[in-house]
Formats: sequence, C-alpha cells, structure tokens
Amino acid sequence: MSIEKSLNKFDDYYHNFLLGIASVLLITPISSLAKPISSPATPETVPSKTADKAKKTLQNAVIVRKLDSEKVQRGKIVYQTNCANCHGQNGESKPGWRKKGPDGKYPPPPLNGDAHTWHHSTDTLTKTIREGSPPEIGNMPGWGNKLTDEEIDDVIVWITSIWPTEIYGIWYKEIERKSQEKKEHKLD
Ligand code: HEC
Repeated sequence: MSIEKSLNKFDDYYHNFLLGIASVLLITPISSLAKPISSPATPETVPSKTADKAKKTLQNAVIVRKLDSEKVQRGKIVYQTNCANCHGQNGESKPGWRKKGPDGKYPPPPLNGDAHTWHHSTDTLTKTIREGSPPEIGNMPGWGNKLTDEEIDDVIVWITSIWPTEIYGIWYKEIERKSQEKKEHKLD
C-alpha cells in the first residue's frame, strides 16, 4: 500500500470517526434536551388528573345540606328506638360487618357512610326499610307495618345527616338528584 493510499484510508477513517463524534455530540444534547420535555408527559398528566379529581371532590363537598332540622331530630328518635340495637348508636355497626355470619347472612352494615348505604337513593332506601332484607341476604325486618311513611322518611334524612360532607355531596349529585330526575321524566 502506498503512503498516499494509506493516508487516504486514514483520512476516511478519521473522517468517519469525526462524523461519529459529531453525531454523538449532536444527538446527545438533543436527546438530553428532549428528555425533560417528553418524559415528564406521563407524570405530569397523572398529577393533573389527580388534581382534577381532587377539585371535583371538593366541588362535591361544598354542597350545603339543607336538611329540615325537625325531620333530623324526629329521625334520630325513630333511629334510636328501632334501629340502633342492630346498626349501632350512630350507625357505625360492629366490627366484622363485612363478613357473613354463621347463618350465611350479612350482619347489619354501618349506615354512617362507611358502607354502601349512600349508593342508594331515598326511594331505594325507603323500599329497603319498608320491606326489610330479602330473606336469603339478611335478617332485617320490614318496617312498613311498624313505622309511618313520615317516620321512614325522617329516619332516612337523619341517616343522610350523619354522612361525611363529601359523601353526602357525591350521593346528592350522583344518586339522589339523578333518581329524582328519572322520576320527573316518568311523570311527564
Ligand atoms: C334486627 C336487626 C336490624 C334492625 C333492628 C334494623 N336493621 Fe337495618 N339491616 C339489618 C341487616 C342484617 C341488614 C343487612 C341486610 C340487607 O342489606 O338487607 C340491614 C340493612 C339495612 C339497610 C341497607 C343498607 C345498605 O347498605 O344497603 C338500611 C338502609 C337499613 N338496614 C336501615 C335500617 C333502619 C332505618 C332501621 C330502623 C328503622 C333498621 N335498619 C333496623 C338489620 C337490622
């Protein structure tokens, strides 16, 4: 190989080597620049979703309960007289209420917002209280022949009065109002 040829070859090699370095240098700042722009995309959307949710929850929570205080007082008495021995003094039930008892039936759940009582509209709760549990589910007696419609309504208002503000807000917006709207549509 002549010196000239090998110098050319060295040149080529060197040229490629320089190109290589140049591209690494070029790419590196781009990719390292690109990182802070593109990679936080995921974490950024997550907190903003959480923030949206938190905002929504707060909006739900600011619903002011315009409960009739006389109804609440009457409902409390109905509750303490008829319901507290099974559901707890303040609707808190007893530990272990999630598990079926030895008879295969569910124990009385809390009514204070811990369980899913707030997943039901006033209409559904009225029906449950009037008719009691389906025998295969639980041992809740029906109250339809022991309590008046007004007493049942009062006790439901008392129950909703003990729910945490946030739960009440979600119940009112997502369950109660929708159930009332459905009823109004049916009446139209
Ligand atoms: C003898 C015990 C007993 C008494 C007294 C009793 N309950 Fe219950 N209650 C139960 C049991 C057991 C259940 C669970 C089975 C079921 O969901 O049907 C239940 C369920 C309920 C539910 C449905 C809860 C849910 O999350 O869906 C409501 C509402 C309720 N009771 C309200 C009342 C009210 C109001 C009174 C008083 C007027 C009352 N209960 C008295 C035993 C009782």
